[in-house]
Amino acid sequence: MKSTNIASSKEQLVIFDTTLRDGEQSPGATMNMQEKFRLAQQLVKLRVDVIEAGFPIASVGDFDCVKNIADNLQDVQIAGLARASVKDIDRAWDALKNGFNPRIHTFLATSDIHLKHKLKMSREQVLELAVSAVRHAAQYTSNVEFSAEDATRSDLDFVCQVFAAVIEAGATTLNFPDTTGYAMPDEFAGQIRYVLAHTPNIHKAVLSVHCHNDLGLAVANSLAAIKAGVRQVETTINGIGERAGNTAMEELVMVIRTRPDQHEVTSHIVTEQIHPSSRMVSTITGMLVQPNKAIVGANAFAHESGIHQDGMLKERTTYEIMNPADVGLASGNLILGKHSGRHALQDRIASLGYEALSDEDLQRVFSRFKDLADRKKDICDEDIEAILMDEVLPIPNTYELVSLGAMSGNHALPTTGIKILVNGEPREGAGLGVGPIDAAFKTIARLTGTTCRLLYFAVSSITGGTDAQGEVMVRLEDDGKIIVGQGADPDIITAAAKAYMNGLNRAAYLKLKKK
Ligand code: KIV
Ligand code: ZN
Repeated sequence: MKSTNIASSKEQLVIFDTTLRDGEQSPGATMNMQEKFRLAQQLVKLRVDVIEAGFPIASVGDFDCVKNIADNLQDVQIAGLARASVKDIDRAWDALKNGFNPRIHTFLATSDIHLKHKLKMSREQVLELAVSAVRHAAQYTSNVEFSAEDATRSDLDFVCQVFAAVIEAGATTLNFPDTTGYAMPDEFAGQIRYVLAHTPNIHKAVLSVHCHNDLGLAVANSLAAIKAGVRQVETTINGIGERAGNTAMEELVMVIRTRPDQHEVTSHIVTEQIHPSSRMVSTITGMLVQPNKAIVGANAFAHESGIHQDGMLKERTTYEIMNPADVGLASGNLILGKHSGRHALQDRIASLGYEALSDEDLQRVFSRFKDLADRKKDICDEDIEAILMDEVLPIPNTYELVSLGAMSGNHALPTTGIKILVNGEPREGAGLGVGPIDAAFKTIARLTGTTCRLLYFAVSSITGGTDAQGEVMVRLEDDGKIIVGQGADPDIITAAAKAYMNGLNRAAYLKLKKK
């Protein structure tokens, strides 16, 4: 199981993180500028090599996010996505140009299915457009990536022809995406070997893959491609992304680290930052991680069976192939409580990967922490993150919850009375429902006049015990757009009301940004 001294002969794998671009394409995972910047800062701590910060032509908001990240982060390449068009590339470059080693990532489909039905172009036209796009991008920077969208369903000789031509035009990274998540590992490795053998100038560029997880094979396919010779992999934290998502960074990196005997590559990733990064992505996007998810799921290092627990007590390696500390779980069990001071709280916030708080923010977080500690014995990392999301990192509050009282039980008519602020103006009311949460939502909907539709509602307990904070996640639909809302509170009805209002605030914020 242990590795030997092979580390020195390893080649470096480039980790291209697309959580902020493909990851944000997950339904409901929209992030605002402040959230994207905070996540980008965390990706720097994680030491990914490239951050794909967005698709600048997609909207003014996307442009601003990419520019903000490129202008302010150092020591990491920032990429912006652009279709193979002068307008897209110019817009991407405008957003990226002040960055540290900025990368223009341009893409064009190469499969006959896309050519016929989507692009309505011939292969000759696609070849010509790809070359002219790359040539245009290369006038701005020598760091140009070209992706052959739907490469795995394309004629490989055509992909090789396009790759050879775009390398001549200035592309330095060539990406071979499995856009539809269709490939099988052996087949994918064969395709990579074919491209390496039949693209004459491929040695002048880095070959990359970008795998989708429609058949649950994204990590397996990426690993097969690495064995076949690719040296860049495109990944997202927690595997989020379009449809079933992308290759999960934490899984890929930990496979390589845990089985160095099987891999010729190594990465720069600071694996101890994996858990804070995963938490940050799930708290920002509202996409909770399934408990049995490898590496970052709540059960990934939990040993339930008596035989396993006995083995673990005798020797950890009997049932553990990774050390939880290596993925940043070491301090997760150190518990803060009502006697902990401001300093301990500030330290814990820093160890969770958040920037130091201003005195004013720390004061607010600390008083919420004390308030919670009076009601709940042990305060865990997740509790602190829930308070941070509420107090320090919120989106602007169009709606604010002032107070809530609910009556329920098996003999009472469930009733909830609520007082809220709408742009600072107080409104109050009460309503009946099937249960107190239903009554709360109906009352909030009436008081805010919202047209958002509730699609999904989930409650989980942030930590164990009956005194745990409840965490509620809702998905709303507003004019065809999916919005996630979250809220946490020891009182589950209050947590639900907070989540609903957080979703409504996000919807209001998105509308404001569109104007
Ligand atoms: O899935 C895909 O093909 C993409 C490209 C833009 C790289 O996301
Ligand atoms: Zn993709």
